[in-house]
Amino acid sequence: MECSTKIFGEGTLGLKAQMATATGCLVVAFKGENIQNPKKLGGVLNALNLATHGAVAKAVAMGDLEAKSGSSLLLSATDAWAAAGLKAERLLLISMGEESKVSKKTEKSHIADVAKWLQVGVKALVATQAKDALWVFEEFSAKDALSQVRLLTQFAKEQLYKFGARHPQFKTKPAEKGSKLVKLTIASDAKNNKALQKAVAEGIAISNGMDLTKDLGNLPPNICTPSYLAQTAKKLAKDFGFKAEILGHKEIETLKMGAFLAVTQGSVAPPQFIVLRHNGGSAKEAPIVLVGKGITFDTGGISLKPGEGMDEMKYDMCGAASVLGTMRAIGELKLKRNVIAVIPTCENMPSGHATRPGDIVTSMSGQTIEILNTDAEGRLILCDALTYVERFKPAAVIDIATLTGACVIALGAVHSGLFSGDDALAEDLLSAGRQSQDTVWRMPLDQAYHDQLKSNFADMANIGGRPAGSVTAACFLSKYTEKYTWAHLDIAGTAWKSGAAKGATGRPVPLLVNYLLA
Ligand code: BES
Ligand code: MN
Ligand code: ZN
Repeated sequence: MECSTKIFGEGTLGLKAQMATATGCLVVAFKGENIQNPKKLGGVLNALNLATHGAVAKAVAMGDLEAKSGSSLLLSATDAWAAAGLKAERLLLISMGEESKVSKKTEKSHIADVAKWLQVGVKALVATQAKDALWVFEEFSAKDALSQVRLLTQFAKEQLYKFGARHPQFKTKPAEKGSKLVKLTIASDAKNNKALQKAVAEGIAISNGMDLTKDLGNLPPNICTPSYLAQTAKKLAKDFGFKAEILGHKEIETLKMGAFLAVTQGSVAPPQFIVLRHNGGSAKEAPIVLVGKGITFDTGGISLKPGEGMDEMKYDMCGAASVLGTMRAIGELKLKRNVIAVIPTCENMPSGHATRPGDIVTSMSGQTIEILNTDAEGRLILCDALTYVERFKPAAVIDIATLTGACVIALGAVHSGLFSGDDALAEDLLSAGRQSQDTVWRMPLDQAYHDQLKSNFADMANIGGRPAGSVTAACFLSKYTEKYTWAHLDIAGTAWKSGAAKGATGRPVPLLVNYLLA
């Protein structure tokens, strides 16, 4: 889908020109205050009511359109519209709610509200057969305009994602056609246009990144192998001018990544260690490092997982996929910062060569680990990657991982788990999550939890028992991050959906891109 802004005049003049635009669907996000009573509609609604020969007032009188945020109405054009200066084939109205009610809310719930009515509008638009649309906000509030337009573009493109259309090779019958929308124009004015154009570009880049993340997550594990992820990284490097470095088994051995090697040793697929650099900032600026868990399939290893739903463990590389998606977005935006992506990737398989419960391995950091459960493998590949990144003298390191089932129990599919000992970094991520509506919830890392990782035979065990499972996993990682500022995102509950709508979500690409843009 193509997305752009178009400048219209302000006030009645602008509205007239918008109404006179030939389009598949004119979407108007209006202020709730316009509906005080059905006999007297204000602002844009009044003009649209006249042009539709009273259809808007009628809908209001029948209770089909209300002032409350998210209330919407879809009308099909009649012959009379054009004569009255309304050239759209469809009119979609969507209430932004009443300012008085909106302003009483906290900033937090306000953005969530905006996202809700935006989603209602986008879903209604995509459900029509319209090929193009003109989207009009009755008024831009300076505070909201940019995030609103960024979210609108992001949501609209997101609705259009269809795995089957992007990868038709997996079904012998052609995939069913989805929405026809190919062009979305957002009405702006001379004053705001530059900023809004930037917001559109950001929304597009974010959703392009999410599409890549979803593709990688959804691809079957016999296709999306560690080598496939490495190839994808190389392709990104070529397309966006990153520097790519791919380390194989031998180099991983030379680096003495004993924990990573233990996880990969049961698999015939060769492990890969991917380093992708975007040098958008000055040479002396310390980089932000993103580390993504790239287990392309997690059987649990010798501590085998139960069979039911095991296919979903193809999504255990969604941390890696979100890092690649984020790199794609910042590459497209030519972000003026230094960002390094680091991805340890392998499979976790049972075999005669596989690591056993009870094995003791030495991590790259020199610390020894008793592997009590081979299914707690994410932390094993991540701990060596977290040691590796010390060499970059990073400003901050953020790891992203589908790390624990316990995080799904704690937070469900709403928030990703955020763990950090650094309040400033945690605040930045919380705020980026709110801005992008890709939210995180801060979890503890207290020293008291560390005791659960004690081992009788090694420096630490790789599991801490069932209580606070996502916290002890994060505590394990923290033992490898003492040399820099660090945060960990557990995306086990947010990276994909199960059930009928099974599929990767593209999270937390919006969060990470918003964080890097701030
Ligand atoms: N990849 C899983 C975590 C996971 C489980 C993500 C379910 C999404 C849904 C991870 O490698 C794992 O198996 N973790 C174990 C840890 C346990 C053995 C301490 C878990 O959560 O059960
Ligand atoms: Mn596992
Ligand atoms: Zn795993």
